[in-house]
Amino acid sequence: MQKLKVKIPASLADNYTVTVGSDFLSQIIQQVKKLLPGKELFVITDSNVAKTKHLKGLIGKEKISVYVINPAGEKSKNINTIIKIIDTMEKNALGRDTAVIAVGGGTVGDMAGFVGAIFKRGIDVIQIPTTTVAQADSSIGGKTGVDSKISKNAFGAFKNPKAVFVDVCTLKTLDEKQFNAGLVESIKHALIADAAYYKFICGNLNDILARKTKALEYIAVKNCRIKADVVEADPYEKNKRRILNYGHTIGHAIESASNYKILHGQAVAIGIIAANIIEQKLGLGGEKRIEELKELFRNLDIDLNVPKSITKKKILDIISRDKKAVQKWPRFVLIEKTGKVLCRDGEYAHKVERKVVEEVIDILLSQKY
Ligand code: GLY
Repeated sequence: MQKLKVKIPASLADNYTVTVGSDFLSQIIQQVKKLLPGKELFVITDSNVAKTKHLKGLIGKEKISVYVINPAGEKSKNINTIIKIIDTMEKNALGRDTAVIAVGGGTVGDMAGFVGAIFKRGIDVIQIPTTTVAQADSSIGGKTGVDSKISKNAFGAFKNPKAVFVDVCTLKTLDEKQFNAGLVESIKHALIADAAYYKFICGNLNDILARKTKALEYIAVKNCRIKADVVEADPYEKNKRRILNYGHTIGHAIESASNYKILHGQAVAIGIIAANIIEQKLGLGGEKRIEELKELFRNLDIDLNVPKSITKKKILDIISRDKKAVQKWPRFVLIEKTGKVLCRDGEYAHKVERKVVEEVIDILLSQKY
């Protein structure tokens, strides 16, 4: 028997820059051309972004093919859309010297990134997030994929972008419900990593909701730094990166169970409340924080009621299929205080007894919290 080692060279090739600013869409293509000389560019966006001035602002007079995903949103985030995009790329005779540019929210970034991961075994990806969810979270860290009929992101790959460009002015055209729901990812970042940031969000909510450029830039930089620190420490979610799933275990289950009728951010807000109730039940405190959070979500006009059509059985069924479940039961990310995630024996996701979780789901479904 012989053993041959295959040494994959560790490289800095996966490092990338996140540029945050306002009103600089028109400069991005030149920067991409400088970064990726000779690459043919292919923009993937959706019907929501196509209605705004952002595409024109980005592309100007350049000759760049654009694929518009229609309808926009989670309804299209499936393998059929990926096949349609790749068919179009093939018809355009695109090769491995192509770079995909994702312009849009989380679903566009996830799908374009996934195309980048699998087309001809992988091509370059640039992320230009235009929603509060994508600017805070999904454009950084390289998670890409699409949903199956049963679960979210069932098909997926890690594909780090070559660069991320966050122009906060793109948020100014976002509809209010999407804008507000996306801020839940910023609140999540503050809860797990930065108490001062949490205070900033609570104290400057009016400026954020009025979409004042300075406030938007401030939260964009904070979000990108917090997310980048976590993915630098654990790029492939072996342990610490799980903290970014705070509120997502129950949140994702409610989102899937609603057939994506409720927005990701709304589902995560309910999931964050659920995590806080679990923390209280486990004696981690936080009684004051839960009231603050409810008020914060109320100010964002986020409905914390679980839709009546969703049953306890359905939520339990979905969480037992959680990607990171052990013996069909998920681990939960919890915080010990605002800005500090709970880490025990080096682990960031914790076993919580089924009985406790069931009690919490009962509370959520009773809508008395
Ligand atoms: N959105 C969670 C993560 O990127 O890990």
